[in-house]
Amino acid sequence: MGIYAVTGAASGMGQAAAERLRANGHRVIAVDLRDAEVIADLATPKGRCDAGAAVLALADGHLDGAILAAGVGPVPGPDEAALIMSVNYFGVIDLLQTWRPALAATGNAKVVVVGSNSTTTTPLVPRSAVRNLLHGDLDAAVQKVRRYRLATSAFAYAASKIAVSQWVRHHAVRASWAGAGIRLNAIAPGAIKTPLLDQQLATPREAKAIQSFPVPLRAFGDPAHLAEWMVFMLSDAADFLCGSVVFVDGGSDAYFRPRDWPRSVPIRRLPDYAMRMLRWSRQRGR
Ligand code: NAI
Repeated sequence: MGIYAVTGAASGMGQAAAERLRANGHRVIAVDLRDAEVIADLATPKGRCDAGAAVLALADGHLDGAILAAGVGPVPGPDEAALIMSVNYFGVIDLLQTWRPALAATGNAKVVVVGSNSTTTTPLVPRSAVRNLLHGDLDAAVQKVRRYRLATSAFAYAASKIAVSQWVRHHAVRASWAGAGIRLNAIAPGAIKTPLLDQQLATPREAKAIQSFPVPLRAFGDPAHLAEWMVFMLSDAADFLCGSVVFVDGGSDAYFRPRDWPRSVPIRRLPDYAMRMLRWSRQRGR
């Protein structure tokens, strides 16, 4: 049986996934602000550093996988942009970078990062904020989204989830991840009935936006079902899954952009494809 680290394990989807893993006989190292084996605040660099080290010590340097589910919703509040982006972006990538050697030590580890369908259903998210996060510049990212007063929390949330999803796709295929046998993937849920969604539904403006949002299956998702997807993405059936972002969102993403993807590659992308082919054959020749 395996050893899995699960962040956000005290509530919602993280809790459901941790319960499912334990029911399957695995050892779960739970990380959260409360009710967890490792109590840590992933909003701060120290909290992330302590959590990373504590998990490595408890796992004795070997992790079979991880689910990164800790997150803060797009709810307005004091310093909301910094909090949302710290937990949702740095609270994932700092831990994964710390845990990478322990994941590589297993030879066939699997990681599920919880993204969101807000990545493709929130229009006008400033690309510069996403770039700032990918370059590790939280302050600059916060400045960018703060310019849009009423949309600050929504843009901070979507930017954090776009950045973390792009980080997953960029790193998943690298020698240090795929080459080390680590299967790194993301799941992108739609509106799932958890305390995070309940908090949004308790805010009148947010509630109105959620209730009028197109969901072709006309329901909220069930956290237990999302947990099943995550556990599936940690199973042997996911041995060939790498760098994927799996949308489980009742159809909203497909509703808004039915023809965006997959699509044929335009001529302007050919140099990039050619460069990647060349890089690949050089790597294989080594
Ligand atoms: P939840 O609120 O039920 O659980 C989130 C967990 O993260 C909580 O246990 C909370 O204590 C923990 N957490 C928050 N801030 C933390 C911090 N600073 N340090 C350590 N732990 C912290 O939420 P839910 O819905 O289960 O969310 C799980 C993930 O799914 C999040 O990343 C969220 O952004 C994402 N998501 C949720 C959706 C929804 O509709 N519920 C939709 C799309 C994505």
